[in-house]
Amino acid sequence: MVNLSTLWHYLALQNPLQAAGNLSSTGLTAQTLPPLPFAYDALEPHISAQIMELHHSKHHAAYVAGLNRALDAHVAAVAAGDVARQIELQRDIRFHGGGHINHSLFWKNLAPPGSREAKAPEEVAPRLVKAIERQWTSLQGFKEEFGRVALGIQGSGWGWLVKEEGSGRLRIVTTKDQDPVVGGDVPVLGVDMWEHAYYLQYLNGKAAYVENIWHVINWKTAEERFVGGIPDEKTEL
Ligand SMILES: [Fe+2]
Repeated sequence: MVNLSTLWHYLALQNPLQAAGNLSSTGLTAQTLPPLPFAYDALEPHISAQIMELHHSKHHAAYVAGLNRALDAHVAAVAAGDVARQIELQRDIRFHGGGHINHSLFWKNLAPPGSREAKAPEEVAPRLVKAIERQWTSLQGFKEEFGRVALGIQGSGWGWLVKEEGSGRLRIVTTKDQDPVVGGDVPVLGVDMWEHAYYLQYLNGKAAYVENIWHVINWKTAEERFVGGIPDEKTEL
């Protein structure tokens, strides 16, 4: 039997954007900027309020606006039978849509440094921490490996801990620019490695940003994604 709440959770991770009520001029459901689940200064001193405000209210908002523009233009191109224009728009949909998905996931996998969600991974994410320890010997070992992989990104991109489809195995992967995790892999947690995520505070100290991000990771959300995202459930439909 399919566990429906588990299945719903899994599907929500593959398409994490909130459905919005308002329609665009072409009749599409317009995407909207989701609110942050905490105040702009809640992640200090590890991520400054200035970074968070710009990152959310300017950068993420721009991806939302860009996605709505591209989707509207795509609808018009389909109506006009303009295949070349539809192909041209794929790049914008991928970039802005990926940016919207990735940031929507990112905000939810962050938490204030004093919170239980960030401070007590063994308590709020017992199954995930055990799986991480099995694979990387210790949580610390995993963090170091994650940092090594994420810092290997050339240019802009994202570092991810994903749960592999089928095997359920954990893997550290990167995606370029705003490419999201696609396919059946479940994004357990992601770290934005674009300069706009850290430069105003850390300048060229990208390694310090990756080290400090662990003070504000929401392990409860990570556990929910890890436990809820069981790809095998899909095959029982
Ligand atoms: Fe970003």
